[in-house]
Amino acid sequence: MATIQWFPGHMSKARRQVQENLKFVDFVTVLADARLPLSSQNPMLSKIIGEKPRLLLLNKADLADSRYTKEWIAYFQEQGNHVVAVNSKEQAAAQKVTAAANKLMAEKLAKKHERGVEKESLRTMIIGIPNVGKSTLMNRLAGKKIATVGNRPGVTKGQQWLRTNKHLEILDTPGILWPKFDDEHTGLKMALTGAIKDSLLPMDDVTIFGINHFKTYYPERLAERFKGVNLEADAPEIIMDLTQKLGFRDDYDRFYDLFIREVRSGKLGTYTLDFVGADGYGND
Ligand code: G4P
Repeated sequence: MATIQWFPGHMSKARRQVQENLKFVDFVTVLADARLPLSSQNPMLSKIIGEKPRLLLLNKADLADSRYTKEWIAYFQEQGNHVVAVNSKEQAAAQKVTAAANKLMAEKLAKKHERGVEKESLRTMIIGIPNVGKSTLMNRLAGKKIATVGNRPGVTKGQQWLRTNKHLEILDTPGILWPKFDDEHTGLKMALTGAIKDSLLPMDDVTIFGINHFKTYYPERLAERFKGVNLEADAPEIIMDLTQKLGFRDDYDRFYDLFIREVRSGKLGTYTLDFVGADGYGND
């Protein structure tokens, strides 16, 4: 299977940009994908942000299997993290995130208050891998459409802050970190959710991975969506059969497109690809 290379130059630039901005914020808001709570986090995150308080948001919770999201929340909380599952496309996300931020910083704010220092608002920066929903969340928190925030590299001179309400300000440029690729399954999981460019991995590998995952964890969804599918068959056979059944003749690419699109959009139901304790494929 193809391996994905990240340019060390890009990584150190991304890291430097995040670290330069750390000094301006009270806490960091880390966005992970609720379907991939571990795989969608940067492997060096803790090193990069150090002791800075961290609010972990499991975004796209509407697309994830809520049973596993609960397990992940308990897992991260046990490790001392402040974590909330959100759907940034929903209005309610703003209130949820603001409340969690105030809770995270409550102690620090109380201490300042004791010393007579009244802090006007909390400042944060949003960081996460590409496509995890940083711009969507920023727009949601700021309550307006911010033009192409995600596409601007670096931070413009003089920090710009987005005021969300009287308690929270967000650095207007999100920190974009590279995703984690420590085994081939991580890459496939990322590709299946659309977290990485489609050109990075062969779509047949991604589809086979997806069919196997649904066959193992959500067989009823495959049976419901693809009537008559033989769940006893192996993934390549299932793909050949469904391509025929759907009338695509031998146009397998058309089936890959359809399957991946439906998985990503949630048409095959909610799902989770990372599991607490193991990745479900024999890797701890
Ligand atoms: P980024 O800045 O981190 O790169 O991510 P961005 O906000 O651009 O979001 C990437 C995609 O994820 C967008 O979809 C966005 O709508 C979607 N998204 C973000 N948060 C959520 C969420 O909580 N739930 C769901 N279901 N989707 C979310 P897109 O298809 O690229 O754009 P669009 O057609 O939705 O505008």
